[in-house]
Amino acid sequence: MLKPSAAAAEGCLPAHVAIIMDGNGRWAQRRGLPRLAGHRKGAEMVREIVEAASDIGVSYLTLYAFSTENWRRAAEEVRGLMNLFRMYIRREGADLNRRNVQVRFIGDRGALDRDLAALMDSLEAQTAGNTGLKLCVALNYGGRVEIIAAARRLAEDAAAGRIDPAEICEERFSGALWTHGLPDPDLVIRTSGEMRVSNFLTWQSAYSEFAFVDECWPDFTPEVFARTLGAFGERERRFGAVPG
Ligand code: IPE
Ligand code: IPE
Ligand code: MG
Repeated sequence: MLKPSAAAAEGCLPAHVAIIMDGNGRWAQRRGLPRLAGHRKGAEMVREIVEAASDIGVSYLTLYAFSTENWRRAAEEVRGLMNLFRMYIRREGADLNRRNVQVRFIGDRGALDRDLAALMDSLEAQTAGNTGLKLCVALNYGGRVEIIAAARRLAEDAAAGRIDPAEICEERFSGALWTHGLPDPDLVIRTSGEMRVSNFLTWQSAYSEFAFVDECWPDFTPEVFARTLGAFGERERRFGAVPG
């Protein structure tokens, strides 16, 4: 059963907002700057949007930082992005903790450099007990890979006799995904005018609302964020039922 999160059911603020942070490269290129300058500016916006989400009262924020397909980019850009992730965790980690943010990473961590994976593990451990905004960062994430990993795990459990295949239901499948324990996103936002999902939260967004905004990620200010959340409040979600 698809369940709307409690906050979405009772009010107009999405409990879980997920963002495809797109358009850093174009933002930079339009200014005659290298793509990496756009990623750097994008990282600054992450800080602002995390703060805004906390202030507004969003409970869960999931950010798409690097997809399993982004390895196809030039080695220099990939290296630059990985360094930016390292720097971000080192610089912002303590502040996120101070602001009571609970950080979690989803994606295939095994394919990342050991030191980056260690920084991610440590930030998760450091903030695990926090009770404020739940920030989930999708890094080396792909919706299809996630589904395959879950299917494989369940198949192994079934083959070993730990579960009965007949017990595999939506809840159990959700529980085998990297996002286990997170409610499905109420609203998925993509910046930069592109209208596709690019392998983001494939299973979880089955009943999400989508907002495609023209601003590139470095121009996605807290004001644009607030406006986008406001427009969500006007939507009528049906979950397949006839409106009452
Ligand atoms: C999003 O910006 C950041 C990542 C995918 C890591 P892009 O780098 O995709 O920017 P555009 O889409 O090329 O403008
Ligand atoms: C999606 O953006 C991935 C992230 C924002 C991390 P891309 O820029 O990689 O997506 P495509 O290639 O335009 O579909
Ligand atoms: Mg892009």
